[in-house]
Amino acid sequence: MADFVKTSDFSRAELDHLVDNAFRIKSGLLADKPLSGKSIALVFFNPSLRTRASMQVGIYELGGNAVILEPGSTSWTLEHREGVVMDGDKTEHLKEFVRVLERYVSAIGVRTFAGLKNWETERTDPILNAFAKYASVPIINLESAMHHPCQAMADMMTIREKLGNEKKKVLLTWAWHPKPLPMAVPNSFALAASQFGHDLRIAHPKGYELDEELIEDIKIQSTANGGSVEFTNDIDVAFENVEVVYAKSWGGKNFYGNHDGDILERSQYRSKWIVDAAKMKRSKEAIFMHCLPVRRNVIVTDAVIDSANSVVIDEAENRLHVQKAIMTELIK
Ligand code: CP
Repeated sequence: MADFVKTSDFSRAELDHLVDNAFRIKSGLLADKPLSGKSIALVFFNPSLRTRASMQVGIYELGGNAVILEPGSTSWTLEHREGVVMDGDKTEHLKEFVRVLERYVSAIGVRTFAGLKNWETERTDPILNAFAKYASVPIINLESAMHHPCQAMADMMTIREKLGNEKKKVLLTWAWHPKPLPMAVPNSFALAASQFGHDLRIAHPKGYELDEELIEDIKIQSTANGGSVEFTNDIDVAFENVEVVYAKSWGGKNFYGNHDGDILERSQYRSKWIVDAAKMKRSKEAIFMHCLPVRRNVIVTDAVIDSANSVVIDEAENRLHVQKAIMTELIK
């Protein structure tokens, strides 16, 4: 492993190995300190609870030291583009930032969300890729514009923990939210679910399609791993017979740069695209999953998230175990 940027950079066997080790770590069977004497930088361009806390704790428990940096707040504002005249609000270029930082640390974790301004640019993950380009130490994606692989690995671990290792009928459903959100979580969940061979159903209103290239990749992975993928714009049929309900809101790619257009378009879905008890009843006693943070009674009702079928807290805990497995593999 060089960098951990997206799950599709790894084979099913490699991903299974990580989940196996995450379970060993969770059960206390792997208690090594592979990061002893090592420092890991965690660079956060955006807010976080789970990712930041679980990475910091995980690094400590593996014997290492976390160096947390927040460009524009606790470190300088950063420019990532090549060849620009830096006479604006950016103080330091990533080229120096990364090459200085790696003189101190053994790996760099990066969180850099989509700005939801320019789809064609942001879908290429320019900031994360600039880190990977300039760094000679491993880069760990802590959620970029397009991928959140650590979350997806915790999600796959949680499905296996709750329902066993066989493939499941899994629903990824869009939900209404008052503002457009990035697509990294649904992208990575769908990609990982297809790599783990689940039967995946993706539900969203028309206009909220995922990236076309990613969908092709999901189809290829599904076929290669014995799963399937189907799409629906009908929320009423989406829940039929599924064993996992994974809710997430995201912004329409055609509305990048048109925030108000997305708000207007989605307004028609407010009361319909919510995970509630009536919809869950159509499922096969599905577990309810969400990456968190979640807006209660917007994305999901209290009754569902507080039900015995909700696994959101265990899912968040599994971030810690799976990230420890990833760091153990990545940082030698
Ligand atoms: N799920 C997730 O990444 O949570 P945070 O944004 O709080 O890190």
